[in-house]
Amino acid sequence: MIDLLDRLSAHRSLSQDEWEALIPCADPLFWEEARCRALSVRDEVYGRNVFLRGLIEFTSFCRNDCYYCGLRRSSRSAERYRLGLGEIVDACRSGYEAGFRSFVLQGGEDPFFTDERMVPIVAAIRKAFPDAAITLSIGERSRESYKALREAGADRYLLRHETADEAHYRILHPQPMSLSERIGCLRTLKDLGYQTGAGMMIGSPGSSAHTLAEDMLLIAELQPEMVGIGPFIPHHDTPFSAERQGSVELTLRMLSLVRLLDPHVLLPATTALGTADADGLIKGLDAGANVIMPNLTPSPVRSKYLIYDGKKISGDEAAENLAMISAKLAAHGYRASTTRGDYIAY
Ligand code: 5AD
Repeated sequence: MIDLLDRLSAHRSLSQDEWEALIPCADPLFWEEARCRALSVRDEVYGRNVFLRGLIEFTSFCRNDCYYCGLRRSSRSAERYRLGLGEIVDACRSGYEAGFRSFVLQGGEDPFFTDERMVPIVAAIRKAFPDAAITLSIGERSRESYKALREAGADRYLLRHETADEAHYRILHPQPMSLSERIGCLRTLKDLGYQTGAGMMIGSPGSSAHTLAEDMLLIAELQPEMVGIGPFIPHHDTPFSAERQGSVELTLRMLSLVRLLDPHVLLPATTALGTADADGLIKGLDAGANVIMPNLTPSPVRSKYLIYDGKKISGDEAAENLAMISAKLAAHGYRASTTRGDYIAY
């Protein structure tokens, strides 16, 4: 197995069969070696800096019906809300004053937020905070829409592919969603010059070493600047309510492998990881992550953005606790960076 790690470090990719052999490896010493190598390549590129993104969850409406997500259209228990332009800019301002120079606007696929409504929001943030990075995470849209948002000032776009396996994609998503549409969107985003984020849940129903190997091949081919990886966590009001939670350990291993695949990748220690494990944030960083996304959503609605049960919205997931988060990072040898935190190209 170690020879596969050597090959990964040298050539930056493996075959489907090789990934499939490596991912289920049961030897803890192998994974400790992988983790150490991932940290050393990360530190070479980014040092011990951890980039902060202020996350604003601005709409809990969604037209999609993904079987895993608590905000799916069919969820009756989900409380729906939308923030207006002023509320979103105010949330950015409070983040800006605390030191954030990178904002992520995330929401369900809410038909209310047409380009006519979305472009002015991006433009207002761009104008008010010219030195901050703007990331959007609002799902599948047309090329024209992505282009208009890019021209309005958006720098980055997160759109997890969720799984690179066709059959697995169908287990997770009803019609009319499709993997090919999803990947088409990712290619369009890259083409328009967005720093683009793909990614997948770990341990979602139907996943296996085979599907994870396909994820790694897709990531190797697409070369996204960001990769979001977190464990699947069931939500009580979805068809997957009785499914098992994804493994924290496997999530950490996949973080290390993605870091080795692209030493330059922007890799968050996700909220799902922080929810599944009380030390998830630090464990994620110690596996090779270099980004955290504290929650800047205004408190009256923050608890309503429930994509899975138990989602952590306080402690080290809350932007108002930045001082505490910075101290925790420092205690583990990391430095909270208040730069835009762009992808460092080769
Ligand atoms: N468990 C873990 N992650 C989830 N997501 C959605 N539902 C869940 C869940 N039940 C993730 C998806 C989505 C991101 C915003 O949250 O990967 O892309």
